[in-house]
Amino acid sequence: MYLFKRVADLREALGQEKKAGKRIGFAPTMGALHQGHISLVDAAKTQCDIVVSSIFVNPTQFNDPKDFEKYPVTIKEDILGLAAAGTDILFLPSVEEMYPEGVNGEHRHYGFGYLETVLEGAYRPGHFQGVGMIVHKLLDAVQPDDLFMGQKDFQQCMIIKKLLEITGIPAKLHICPTLRETDGLAMSSRNMRLTPEQRAVAPQVSRTLLYMKENLQKLPFGEIKRNAHKQLEDAGFQPDYVEIADANNLQLLEKPLPGGPMVMLIAAKLGEIRLIDNMVTN
Ligand code: PAF
Repeated sequence: MYLFKRVADLREALGQEKKAGKRIGFAPTMGALHQGHISLVDAAKTQCDIVVSSIFVNPTQFNDPKDFEKYPVTIKEDILGLAAAGTDILFLPSVEEMYPEGVNGEHRHYGFGYLETVLEGAYRPGHFQGVGMIVHKLLDAVQPDDLFMGQKDFQQCMIIKKLLEITGIPAKLHICPTLRETDGLAMSSRNMRLTPEQRAVAPQVSRTLLYMKENLQKLPFGEIKRNAHKQLEDAGFQPDYVEIADANNLQLLEKPLPGGPMVMLIAAKLGEIRLIDNMVTN
């Protein structure tokens, strides 16, 4: 595995691969890697000749400075894990490399519209502008044919789909399934910060999503959401939201959508740790 810290060096190496007709796959990450990230690399390997991954904890997408400070960093393990998974190139830039004008020196604004006004957008003001900015910069640097992202961040995937439309960047987005621990907890870098007691309670999020999914056609949505809130609160969570939406556009639903896929989404805090998860109907 090659490791590059500068955009110029990365571009030069990838330029040669592209000239040789190689298909480039890209899996961006913020490190603190788990099997979910590795599954993105695995998916990229099946479809592409060269797999690029990046590790960059992007300061502009953290609306809460404490969350940024405490974001887990496990760089040595990450490098070994990516190499073992068969990543060809790791891009590991500094903040200065990605934000030469300084993190407050960028004034791009993306017209994500409705998508950034709901759910994560409403609870994390500015978050998706930060995600859009860094993914745009990373895509400019890597210029991949294929982009691999996890369904765990469902709304983020929709934002990136929109970013590709807005910018006209021709990468194909592949949304890879959420990986779960055996007790159902969605894999997430933030899980590392849970205390043993919190970790024992954390699978309630996926249990509640399953409860919602099983009752979509049986109970009024208002009642499902109230019961889901209560399940989470009884387990010790402070839910930010429990919602059911049209999986194609995130419009919130009050009753079942005939025919179309629906997505159930939860964000809830356990102490300081905020967990998000979702499940989609077939
Ligand atoms: O999902 C993530 O890890 C990050 O939001 C991403 C896409 C790497 C951008 O920083």
